[in-house]
Amino acid sequence: MICISIIFSNMDAAIADLKKANNIADIIELRVDYIFGLDIKKLIEAAEKPVIVTNRRKADNGKFEGAEEERLSILKKAIDLGADYVDIEIDSNYNEIINDKKNSKIIISYHNFDETPENINEIFDKLNSTNADIIKIVTTANKLADNLKIIELIKKSEKPIIGLCMGPLGEISRILSTIYGSFLTFASLDKGKESAPGQIPAETLRNIYRIDEIKPGFKLYGVIGKPISKSKGYIVHNSLFKKEKLNNIYLKFEVNDLEKFMKNFSSLLAGFSVTMPHKENILKFIGVIDPVAKKIGAVNTVVNNNGKLTGYNTDIIGAIKAIEVKTEIKDKNVTILGAGGAARAIAVGVLEKQGKLTILNRTVEKAEKLSKEFNCNFGSLQDFEKIKTDILINTTSIGMHPEINGTPINTKFVKNIIVLDAIYSQEKTKLLQEAEKNNCTIISGIEMYINQAAGQFKIWTGKEADINFMRNIIK
Ligand code: ATR
Repeated sequence: MICISIIFSNMDAAIADLKKANNIADIIELRVDYIFGLDIKKLIEAAEKPVIVTNRRKADNGKFEGAEEERLSILKKAIDLGADYVDIEIDSNYNEIINDKKNSKIIISYHNFDETPENINEIFDKLNSTNADIIKIVTTANKLADNLKIIELIKKSEKPIIGLCMGPLGEISRILSTIYGSFLTFASLDKGKESAPGQIPAETLRNIYRIDEIKPGFKLYGVIGKPISKSKGYIVHNSLFKKEKLNNIYLKFEVNDLEKFMKNFSSLLAGFSVTMPHKENILKFIGVIDPVAKKIGAVNTVVNNNGKLTGYNTDIIGAIKAIEVKTEIKDKNVTILGAGGAARAIAVGVLEKQGKLTILNRTVEKAEKLSKEFNCNFGSLQDFEKIKTDILINTTSIGMHPEINGTPINTKFVKNIIVLDAIYSQEKTKLLQEAEKNNCTIISGIEMYINQAAGQFKIWTGKEADINFMRNIIK
């Protein structure tokens, strides 16, 4: 169930949001501490879904600053008006509310805006020993493993429980908690309307993360990297899982400490994508490495087969398939700009397809080092105008934010050839726009991205991904 909190400061705005929430929430929390000129009756009447009435103290990140007696009397009034649920904190006189609960159900809650404390089990036991109808335990995740502590409580609770972690590192708990049986998960009405840090918009929870369908037994996938907040793979993979009616779900894991992540989470995941900065370091945690990934020295896809982890690299198929839609690579003069991880993966693919490779880089020594390994030509970016190129591939970060108006080479020399830009944050980088004007055949990095994601989907599910469907999702 999705709960949306109404946090507006005046009645008109609160009612306006309440009307929107009626359409997307399963349950609505009225944060009456926020609302100036409060008319609880009017709010309860305007709600078409069950309501939770909450009157949070300032000390608990709420807005209520009056006397405790007054605060509780507002909750009692909500009970008299027929509120479906009333939330009261574990460290307040909750018995006063429970003894007077009439037809309302009482949620006894614990919140911690700083951490997931060491004594979380004691706090849980205390909540559990009350006469609450539902218990609620919401902490802040300072590390990914904090989410697991909350999940353990959800799993062991005999009472209905709401368990979540707040903050960016707790974002995964907003989906995971539902898989493990949390009574509800909180969502924001829209981006920017979060009532707690880390909340995900309700629309995303319902349509991308399939919150109404997920349940124990769903296979967990995800992406690990840092930073990860802008990663869009969760949209593509979850949409594919949904389309193919697979009981799989894909989450974003912001991973700082790879070793800890592998220890705590890898057994929970059926597979995962690996992105920067972990593509190389992940190799030492994986039992079996596919020969292509070994050659590149980087893994972007991991499968967990009953505890046995295997690493693959689909970046390479992504690039090669995107080019092969337009042209054969064999015997073509292929110039790669850049000498980092992406250049290395694409170089392996180009050589496998028997292209004639040159690597050009701002730091010529790095191009030289790579060229020795691959036995190919090298040079500086300025050398582009001196060499013959049939297929040009940009793997430098020029064209990406903040250099979205830059090009890695002078585009007046980029004429009548095929150009692929590995950047996929926009459909047409400046390089591609200029190349198109100069009569080149251009290939967006998005095509490369889609093909590598399709490769991951095939490895995890054994099924071919629908490329057109993926293209539409991305657009
Ligand atoms: P990736 O894994 O995406 O390839 P990387 O390993 O950090 O990322 O490589 C980034 C590439 O972009 C490098 O080739 C880098 O050139 P240097 O080796 O000289 O650093 C290139 N690059 C980054 N910023 C650049 C810039 N402003 N001008 C030219 N090349 C740039």
